[in-house]
Amino acid sequence: MAEIRLVEVTKRFGSNTAVDRINLTAQEKEFLVLVGPSGCGKTTTLRMIAGLEETTEGEVYIGNRMVNNVPPKDRDIAMVFQNYALYPHMSVYKNLAFGLKQRKFPRSEINLRVTEVAHMLGIKELLKRKPKELSGGQRQRVAMGRAIVRKPEVFLFDEPLSNLDAKLRVQMRGELGKLHRQLETTIVYVTHDQIEAMTLADRIVVMHNGIIMQSGAPMDVYNNPKNLFVAGFIGSPAMNFFDVRITAEKGTLRVNGDNFQLTIPAGLQDRFLQAKDRELVLGIRPEHIYDRSIKGSFAGGEPLKATVEVVEPIGSQVILLASCGSENLTACVDPQTRAKPNAAIEFLVDTNHLHLFDKQTEKAY
Ligand SMILES: Nc1ncnc2c1ncn2[C@@H]1O[C@H](COP(=O)(O)OP(=O)(O)O)[C@@H](O)[C@H]1O
Ligand SMILES: [Mg+2]
Repeated sequence: MAEIRLVEVTKRFGSNTAVDRINLTAQEKEFLVLVGPSGCGKTTTLRMIAGLEETTEGEVYIGNRMVNNVPPKDRDIAMVFQNYALYPHMSVYKNLAFGLKQRKFPRSEINLRVTEVAHMLGIKELLKRKPKELSGGQRQRVAMGRAIVRKPEVFLFDEPLSNLDAKLRVQMRGELGKLHRQLETTIVYVTHDQIEAMTLADRIVVMHNGIIMQSGAPMDVYNNPKNLFVAGFIGSPAMNFFDVRITAEKGTLRVNGDNFQLTIPAGLQDRFLQAKDRELVLGIRPEHIYDRSIKGSFAGGEPLKATVEVVEPIGSQVILLASCGSENLTACVDPQTRAKPNAAIEFLVDTNHLHLFDKQTEKAY
């Protein structure tokens, strides 16, 4: 049993609360990703699971066992860090074998495991090399291999890809997913990169200031962010926000910004009606804003007039930075767009995907 459970776990460093009463479960064989900005308490959480950091309050369970007083080496956990240190004077083979040798595994078993893991990670040809003769990606693979040969029940990863270049990161991301399916172990993976989180996770846990802001399946969190923080953090480019109010006229609900007005579709009326008379923040994802002038573009939705400021083609789409009165907005539109800087543009907003938040509580309606 390799379920991991944190119950009301708090970590304080002096007067600084790094982790604030979090409750968290990584189910057996689940790929759980902790994601959040730098300093939000991800590493501290991981280190408490590994036993490298004591909890100030609360309990850590691995399987059914409370492990608060179990030393790291007895937790059957392997951890891969961002700054993985390989032994520079040892070959790849010896780097992989080192942990097993220390644990007095027989030579034949070591050989078997190292060969198996080298095969799994595609580094069989590198076994005789020294770390300095490897590329960054190869070194990262060896670091992972070192964790895998131990066949632990649980893997903890702390931003293992953040030292790699963009292309390699994408490749390793794919491999990590594959590896998880092969190993069938519980993984708790920490990253500040929301795209990494979205692509790898069975479930993501979004952290901010030591608190869990939301957890759920990646697309669930993307589609239904529970608060302003999660809405702004998950999704790239980030969600647009506007100060608005809701009005009802003759049974039609509208959202009114400083420079635009959108009719709320029937499907959202009941939910948004609760927000009447409140100060609100409207959220619109860039991918839900269309360039109206493109034939065959999104036909429904509501018009929104703006002025284009910057046009950024990224191949599959064009990112438009625009202004709507004093407010800025980002739109990801079809590459056929003819949008030009400083020109007026008419967008169509897919109002079925509007998000509404209370300005005070920051909670979603
Ligand atoms: N050993 C430590 N001593 C004092 N403060 C720490 C220590 N480790 C982490 N912190 C503080 O705890 C908070 C969370 O840090 P950390 O868990 O490393 O965040 P993350 O991994 O999300 O970037 C930060 O404010 C950080 O400065
Ligand atoms: Mg960290």
